[in-house]
Amino acid sequence: MTPFAYLKKTESKRRKDLFTLLSFPTVSAKSEHKKDIAACAEWLKKHLAETGFKSKIYATKGNPIVFAEYFVGKNLPTVLYYGHYDVQPPEPLNLWKTPPFKPQVRAGYIHARGACDDKGQFFAQLKGLEAVIKTTGSLPVNVKFLIEGEEESHSTNLPPFIRKNKKLLKADIVVISDTAQFDKQHPAVTFGLRGIASVEVFVYGPAMDLHSGGFGGAVGNPVNILCGMVGQLHDKSGKIAIPGFYKDCKPISPWVKKQFKKLPYNEAKYKKAIGIPALHGEKNYTTYEKVTGRPTCDVNGITGGYQGEGAKTIIPSMASCKITMRLVPDMKPDDICDKIEKYLKQIAPKSVRVKVNKHGGAKAVEVPVDGPWLEAAGRAIKIGFGKEPVFIKEGGSIPIVIEFKETLGIDSLLVGFGQNDDNIHSPNERFRVVDFERGCKTAAALPFELAKVRK
Ligand code: BES
Ligand code: ZN
Repeated sequence: MTPFAYLKKTESKRRKDLFTLLSFPTVSAKSEHKKDIAACAEWLKKHLAETGFKSKIYATKGNPIVFAEYFVGKNLPTVLYYGHYDVQPPEPLNLWKTPPFKPQVRAGYIHARGACDDKGQFFAQLKGLEAVIKTTGSLPVNVKFLIEGEEESHSTNLPPFIRKNKKLLKADIVVISDTAQFDKQHPAVTFGLRGIASVEVFVYGPAMDLHSGGFGGAVGNPVNILCGMVGQLHDKSGKIAIPGFYKDCKPISPWVKKQFKKLPYNEAKYKKAIGIPALHGEKNYTTYEKVTGRPTCDVNGITGGYQGEGAKTIIPSMASCKITMRLVPDMKPDDICDKIEKYLKQIAPKSVRVKVNKHGGAKAVEVPVDGPWLEAAGRAIKIGFGKEPVFIKEGGSIPIVIEFKETLGIDSLLVGFGQNDDNIHSPNERFRVVDFERGCKTAAALPFELAKVRK
């Protein structure tokens, strides 16, 4: 039997296994899910072992890392597959058509939190490899699998693990499926991701909530003040107003601009799909350039005061917000965190106290746009999707990619099977059944193509 015939034969079993994986509520942001996270890691370890891998769980200070290995021969290339089994919080729950951890197929889509980001995607890679193992009795390359449980929470404990386990992770190339295709007609290889820097801002006013009639007018309101500060993060032209923010920001190169021009980007369709009345942002950049090649500063959530039923007339004692900034090459996360802290403290009025918790982040990455590995990935995509891939940059971040490069000296192939309208990080996350199937096929073809690359 060929690997493709095996994939066809095992379609319902593969779907069933994916549904089991999607049923674990592995929300890394919330400590209440520790047990679910541990159970998911165990399940993956077992599943990898059943597939033929030597698998192991590494405990960390945070969530466990699942590592597995399939060794074939010393003279073959070694491919390190990376994925993450943790997911974003599913809230707001009332907007989900079906519960986030009860996977369901509807209208050609698998619906569940993590369906696309990233369980469905790394599982496609694993199922492709399984098809090769079960039909040929081996693999044409050595394979290592690294599946972490903290990607959606900044991968805090993975860099120290990588530094400590350089030998274990030694490989010739990294393969990651945690990105998207350009659109439904254009499978893609991603050559760049933005970095990220995160802070949480606290504005403290009076020691307790106060009657807004009795005290209003003489006491600074932390919510009003925080909103005013947030309002000063950008200037009128859409540029970020934090002093020195753009100092290390690398301009979009003419080559990248030319590459982007080749992509059939449709702004009207884009606007309609996300339901906004008009586009926004910096002048002199196209939408695609803005979301892939320019830095950002966005509030992810803001809290303060009373928002329950009915009225409550108070001056809240505090307000807070979480801010993430997307970075482009050569911006440094710690430096950016320092700069926003300094700026917020400087613009805050004396009537409040401001605290900024800096969570750091990850630098942006750019991976090679040519060379034998990339050509191999292109051939595998052609086999799986029936089309040559286009080359894209994406605005999201995968914090560990830069560590693979800088600590282990390994480049990554970013071969994404998702779509930009798969609702990742949003209610009703989904993954097209055809993208999962084509992803599995690509994954079954990929090791043969990678094996053609000389070590
Ligand atoms: N799969 C995404 C990264 C991604 C999103 C790539 C969209 C390309 C397009 C990944 O799981 C993710 O969301 N990462 C986080 C990292 C953060 C929490 C440090 C992100 O980008 O917000
Ligand atoms: Zn994500």
